[in-house]
Amino acid sequence: MDRYLINGGKKLYGEVEISGAKNAAVAMIPAALMVDGVCRIENMPQISDTDMLMSIISALGAKIKVIDPTTVEIDCRSVHNCDAPYDKMRRIRASYYLIGAMLGRFGCAKTTMPGGCNFGVRPIDQHIKGMVAMGAKVEVKNGFVYAEARGGRLNGARIYLDKVSVGATMNIMIAAVMASGRTVIENAAREPHIVDLANFLNSMGADVRGAGTDTIKVNGVERLHGGTYSIIPDQIEAGTYMMAVAAAGGEVRINNIIPKHLECISAKLVEMGVDVEELEDAVIVRREGPLRPTNVKTLPYPGFPTDMQPQISTALCFANGTSFVTEGVWDNRYKYVNELRKMGANIEVSGRTAVIEGVPCLTGAPVAACDLRAGAAMVIAGLCANGVTEVEDVHFIERGYEDFTGKLIRLGADITVVRDPDEPEKVPMFAV
Ligand code: EPU
Repeated sequence: MDRYLINGGKKLYGEVEISGAKNAAVAMIPAALMVDGVCRIENMPQISDTDMLMSIISALGAKIKVIDPTTVEIDCRSVHNCDAPYDKMRRIRASYYLIGAMLGRFGCAKTTMPGGCNFGVRPIDQHIKGMVAMGAKVEVKNGFVYAEARGGRLNGARIYLDKVSVGATMNIMIAAVMASGRTVIENAAREPHIVDLANFLNSMGADVRGAGTDTIKVNGVERLHGGTYSIIPDQIEAGTYMMAVAAAGGEVRINNIIPKHLECISAKLVEMGVDVEELEDAVIVRREGPLRPTNVKTLPYPGFPTDMQPQISTALCFANGTSFVTEGVWDNRYKYVNELRKMGANIEVSGRTAVIEGVPCLTGAPVAACDLRAGAAMVIAGLCANGVTEVEDVHFIERGYEDFTGKLIRLGADITVVRDPDEPEKVPMFAV
């Protein structure tokens, strides 16, 4: 099994470049199925989730040309096949976007139920509610989702989401782009990647308005044309490096970011006694003195992101006092706490709240990456611990962080990546 060996105790110094946003990229690749032309996507993150999605659409018949490491051209004009490779689809959460894209393109879809990191139940009822409101007949049977638009084309509809859901908002937006008439999504999620997906679709000829607010209006069009689009920087990747510097100490300039997307993370860091200097498209994070405790509740954007919860909880393990972290999005996102305890962390979880008593130091230990963000948190813990931390199941980390270890090593971290020569295909079992 591939693993990282982290020799802790090194502060981080230097500059790091942030890659394109994973959760935007994983929606754009399936959405490219609807484009009648060549869709050129720049700033594509090089992570295993995007590889997996490209291999899924390429199995459907898409022609994919890699122009440079972060630019791809996707041409789906010759795709006539709805039969996606189910073994791959099952492993990735974002395969649910194929339902919206296939319904938009072909008027029918057959996909597996998506996989996903296990943070409790992860239903897709709101996605289905949206498709049904647009006139699709949807059946979930034996782990598969069968969807068919009555009359071969979806119709615009007014859809109120019962839960603020990133995936449902984006999936319905994708499906609505080529529906007949106007779709209105109310109680929509407002994450930066939702705005990015809308901008991507609009650059190919769609008519999506209001993304970034809680009401999105989509006027259906007959066709999407080819075009070029550059993905926004990854808010969570940037936040993860900010938290790593907060925990390990040092001074790092984080480049290629949109400071506005990081406001709530920066605000929490300042409360914790960390210096955060915002520049136009970069942020400098500096931590010399002790960390102060704070309280955090994760919420949909613009609240504090759930995808930063394991990283901030790990940094708070070193704070001078007691912090309360409450998870407001997922039922169960604290599996990693047991791993941190192996390193000497003092955390008690009660329901959705973790009570974290700061300790002077953690000690290196063998730990597992329970999922993508929990895996990043284990690496942060290892950077700060005394001795060597061995992180297993690192495929979870590699599905969402481009060159995580390389970027940290260039900042001064002491990390050895141990590749298992017998490890079969580097395909993780679950997606985020
Ligand atoms: N929910 C429902 N019904 C639905 C959809 C969601 O009840 O039909 C509930 C969920 O159970 C959860 C809440 O609504 O309690 C929010 O779920 P959401 O749909 O927003 O999550 P998602 O779209 O499945 C995306 C990201 C996650 C991120 C969440 C929240 C992707 C591929 N995944 O998941 O990212 O945690 O939004 O921001 O975009 C990660 O990147 O590490 C990651 C897990």
